Amino acid sequence: MKNTQAFISANQDRFLAELLDFLRIPSISADPAYAGSVRNAAEWLAAKLTEAGLDQVRLEETAGFPIVYGEKMVDPSAPTILVYGHYDVQPADPLELWESPPFEPVIKNEVIYARGSCDDKGQVFMHVKAFEAMLASGELTCNVKFMIEGEEEVGSDHLGIFVEANKELLKADVILISDTAIIANDIPSIDVGLRGLSYMEVSVQGPNRDLHSGVYGGAVANPINILCQMIASMHDEFNHITIPGFYDGVLELSASDRAAMAQTPFDLDAYQKDLGIQSVHGEKGYSTIERASIRPTLDVNGIWGGYTGEGAKTVLPSMAYAKISMRLVPNQSSETITQLFTDHFKSIAPKGVTVTVKPHHGGEAYIMPTDSIAYQAASEALAETFGKEPVPTRGGGSIPIVALFEKELGIKSILMGFGLDSDAIHSPNEHYGLFNFYKGIETIPHFFANFHRLSQ
Ligand code: BES
Ligand code: MN
Ligand code: MN
Repeated sequence: MKNTQAFISANQDRFLAELLDFLRIPSISADPAYAGSVRNAAEWLAAKLTEAGLDQVRLEETAGFPIVYGEKMVDPSAPTILVYGHYDVQPADPLELWESPPFEPVIKNEVIYARGSCDDKGQVFMHVKAFEAMLASGELTCNVKFMIEGEEEVGSDHLGIFVEANKELLKADVILISDTAIIANDIPSIDVGLRGLSYMEVSVQGPNRDLHSGVYGGAVANPINILCQMIASMHDEFNHITIPGFYDGVLELSASDRAAMAQTPFDLDAYQKDLGIQSVHGEKGYSTIERASIRPTLDVNGIWGGYTGEGAKTVLPSMAYAKISMRLVPNQSSETITQLFTDHFKSIAPKGVTVTVKPHHGGEAYIMPTDSIAYQAASEALAETFGKEPVPTRGGGSIPIVALFEKELGIKSILMGFGLDSDAIHSPNEHYGLFNFYKGIETIPHFFANFHRLSQ
């Protein structure tokens, strides 16, 4: 461990320079215009895995973007850690809100600004460098497999197929993932839960063409007016979701679990200030932390139709559209919720409009028990490097493949992320602290050592 940490210190600047190269590749999986760049990112990463000393490095081709694979088997009797992450990133728009171009990383006040700096290239790269350091120092005690995909931000469809077809290749004792956040740089935490997801796109069609809003307005259903009413009706006055059956099966936390959750450090003033809001909002009877982690949600992600250009155009639109996400919690099924939403949405459409409902991706919620060896290993690792016992937290985001790993491979994932909620992932000016990058590289070898020891 001493040699590993010395190697890391001696190579800090090089590690950072390499990460900046990674961040310069615009690997936006959602936008076909960037398909070449996504592949370039995979090839770049594969070359780095080889340089770091992994064996069997290859791109596993899929019908979508390739999966970067590599392994180092040091001892058949030692535990195997499968590192998962993603090299694809979210689209960067709205571009005009970036203070520096999203794919030209800059460091300001010890923070790296670039799309993907935190989610997830910066965090994936910590693993590559921690591995390199452990191997170079002769202190790698666990077997390692890397599986880094290029479609996480678009639903991991092809990774699911790859996992089902490669159970033997992916055999491991634990999956280690850095793609989540800690509470603060002086309050380490471990995400022990992820929410599931059902993502829908809906449309409402009214008249067969856009109409003059004076000539026809008032006499013909306006699809945007109707869509807004339909969306608004899906929450009641207590901000409960009104879709029949939506809460069936929702795992309610025990009073003692809720009491423990209420002890999680949380500064409401700082939270509101960071977001520029005067007040929080959400389901009655639940705290902000609970609303954003253990409770399911329904949110419009985008809504459009009609005239949105400069100035005013008087038009009664023919079409209205919205993208709607539902975050799900343990014991809700994404498939069931998708069906319930579809049936309900169609049932509340008034006469005079036609609605369509198209499901996009989905996935199930996930829980990591704190009484596991992996949690213990991560907890001790963070305690060693932060000098403070980490707090278990339930995250609000989704990594749908994690539940699938458990179902298909029977392997639990430990979410040892190093980002901050304020890192603006998916937003303009995404960033990642140098502190977090280096802390991650320093902490990962501790996890390996602890997991090895606790597995004996
Ligand atoms: N890394 C995030 C998920 C995340 C962020 C989990 C913060 C916990 C805390 C991941 O890249 C992501 O953005 N996932 C998507 C899911 C997906 C199917 C597009 C999400 O949560 O919206
Ligand atoms: Mn991510
Ligand atoms: Mn993401």
